[in-house]
Amino acid sequence: MSEERIDTVRLQNLAYGYRQSATLVAAIEIDLFTKIAEGSRTVGQLASSLDIAPVNAERLLVACAALGLVVKNGDEYSNAPDVERFLVKGAKNYAGPWLTTMGRSDYAEWNKLATFLRRKEPPRILGTYENFTVEDARKLHRATFSIGMGAGRRFARQVDLSKRSMILDLGGGSGCYCIAAAEKNPQIKAVVFDLPSVAVVANEYIAQCGFSDRIKAVGGDFTKDQFPEGADVVTMASNLPQYSPDIIKGVVRKAFEALRPGGEMHLIGEMLNDAKTGPLGPALWGLNEAIYLSTGVAHSEAEVSGYLKDAGFVRVSANEFVPGSLTRVTGFKPEA
Ligand SMILES: C[S@@+](CC[C@H](N)C(=O)[O-])C[C@H]1O[C@@H](n2cnc3c(N)ncnc32)[C@H](O)[C@@H]1O
Repeated sequence: MSEERIDTVRLQNLAYGYRQSATLVAAIEIDLFTKIAEGSRTVGQLASSLDIAPVNAERLLVACAALGLVVKNGDEYSNAPDVERFLVKGAKNYAGPWLTTMGRSDYAEWNKLATFLRRKEPPRILGTYENFTVEDARKLHRATFSIGMGAGRRFARQVDLSKRSMILDLGGGSGCYCIAAAEKNPQIKAVVFDLPSVAVVANEYIAQCGFSDRIKAVGGDFTKDQFPEGADVVTMASNLPQYSPDIIKGVVRKAFEALRPGGEMHLIGEMLNDAKTGPLGPALWGLNEAIYLSTGVAHSEAEVSGYLKDAGFVRVSANEFVPGSLTRVTGFKPEA
């Protein structure tokens, strides 16, 4: 029987992992994938359309082929299907600003992760959102808006809101979930509840999409402020790992109290499996909180389901939302 050989290759690839991120970010920034979609296919054509030296075009294309971002056929390159769909400028689903923002926003801090892991001062409740300015909010949500509209439309397709009247969207960001719900359901009204600086920006997106008469954003901190009453749907998306179990439990309890009897809550976020051994994405979102010195950790699907049950929700279920990335945990407030 041959023994499995143990070597350092996996460890090396992990140690150099930052190069993969930087390759993707640089390729987006110099418009590699857009030029390929427009018809530049060879090293020579791409060097000239990108205005870079042929040797650098070749370096970048070889790395992108190894990463599976482009496919090589003879001397010609084409985009992988997800790249063609999300990373070609001008396409409806263009996710370039989101990926480049997220791909570099914490880069310098991750480089000093061990230093952050050794820090022991008391956590900062709002973590990355402490002292968040309107300009910070504009920058963040310029990146999240298009991708968030995709997620919002997916939510509006998955969840029947045709008999509902009012959504309360906790940490609603640009307002994308409410905008998508209002697009599909003409009777729906909504309140986006986010930090005061973000509410300013959300109202701009809401106005831009023509929904100011049905959706409004109000400023507040869901860790300490009361929630507006009257909603029959509460949503909360993509801020789960930024807070501790106790804080999320408190938010879910307040959501339960604010909901009308018979109403429903959907908590959407990056969640771990119940053994807490993965997937990698949610695990790293939890680790990311170390650099913000917050209370945040990655939560498992079973834990999140438990938060809803403990608050009084019934018929709690965990549903795949974006496979491999986001789970939607849903529960219903019993009729009075
Ligand atoms: C990653 S964004 C997600 C936005 C939106 N839900 C989406 O899916 O596109 C997280 C949002 O949660 C908001 N948020 C985080 N902590 C909050 C708090 N304590 N109170 C209110 N909003 C908060 C942030 O301001 C930000 O807009």
